[in-house]
Amino acid sequence: MNAQGLMDTANKLVANDKGLLAMDESNPTCHKRFAKLGIPQTEAARRAYREMIVTTPGLGECISGAILYDETIRQQKKDGTPMVKALIDAGIVPGIKVDAGAKDMAAHAGEKITEGLDGLRKRLEEYSAMGARFAKWRAVITIGAGIPSRACIEANAHALARYAALCQEAGLVPIVEPEVLMDGGHTLARCREVTEEVLRTVFAQLCTQRVLLEGMLLKPNMVLPGLACPTQETVDEVADATVHCFLRAVPAAVAGIAFLSGGQSPELASARLNAMNVRFKSRLPWALAFSYSRAIQQPALEIWQGKDANAPAAQRALLHRGRCNRAARRGEYSAAMETSGA
Ligand code: 13P
Repeated sequence: MNAQGLMDTANKLVANDKGLLAMDESNPTCHKRFAKLGIPQTEAARRAYREMIVTTPGLGECISGAILYDETIRQQKKDGTPMVKALIDAGIVPGIKVDAGAKDMAAHAGEKITEGLDGLRKRLEEYSAMGARFAKWRAVITIGAGIPSRACIEANAHALARYAALCQEAGLVPIVEPEVLMDGGHTLARCREVTEEVLRTVFAQLCTQRVLLEGMLLKPNMVLPGLACPTQETVDEVADATVHCFLRAVPAAVAGIAFLSGGQSPELASARLNAMNVRFKSRLPWALAFSYSRAIQQPALEIWQGKDANAPAAQRALLHRGRCNRAARRGEYSAAMETSGA
């Protein structure tokens, strides 16, 4: 394992207040989002959409890395340039989602286990040869009556750690994503308790599997009340709960933390990240960055609507979200940015 190479890539992904753009939606997820806007659910439309994203002028000023889906890493722009090359030319490190999705867990109603370890070593070699320098694996934890179970937390943590070790063997920085979902009526306190238990279990497994913490990134949920919870805490309260939880459960050696957005509005995802950096940045061992999909892409997708003529406006919206989140890393985001056209 080339430890220095892994650390260099991991550090690059969180350097200069930039963050990651997750554009690795599986075809079914992509189709759901396209269908809502009447965009054709075809390979051609997916390719055109991803080309619109990777060719956004100036994207590399706020985005350090982009997470691709298997189909996209094999695709080219209309002019024949590989998507991977377009990203590299824009100063953006290409990454790849390598899990095979969260499937129903046997004997555990309502819970999921992420699949994809079989054959992973070979796939990682192939992705590395195509130019990927980091990878992502998402585990899903649901809060509900009597769940999550220890079985679900342990099985997902074990899979994340085995994936991470294989990535590092292949020279790819693993992004370790244990997502505690926002769905449900649970309180912020319950999310904090579950998130802490999940993170402790994940890091115990990462250590057992000899994963180099300095050569990985954590991609966690923020600590939030469930979407249906009647009490919705303030931005500052969410920031405090999230950072206090991580200080207890995330080793200082981890290269960086890049949040998922998980269904928060783009504005809230920026405001909460900003509050964490305003209140804690100077006393944290890790960078607090972003790795958003919906919170960066959604406004652009709604403008694009599958039409070439809308691409420049959609790209401006994408860049705007990138800039808002870079500002949030600096603790310089404010609601005024949403109207100033910055
Ligand atoms: P969201 O930011 O939309 O939660 O997506 C992040 C991601 O990559 C989920 O795996």
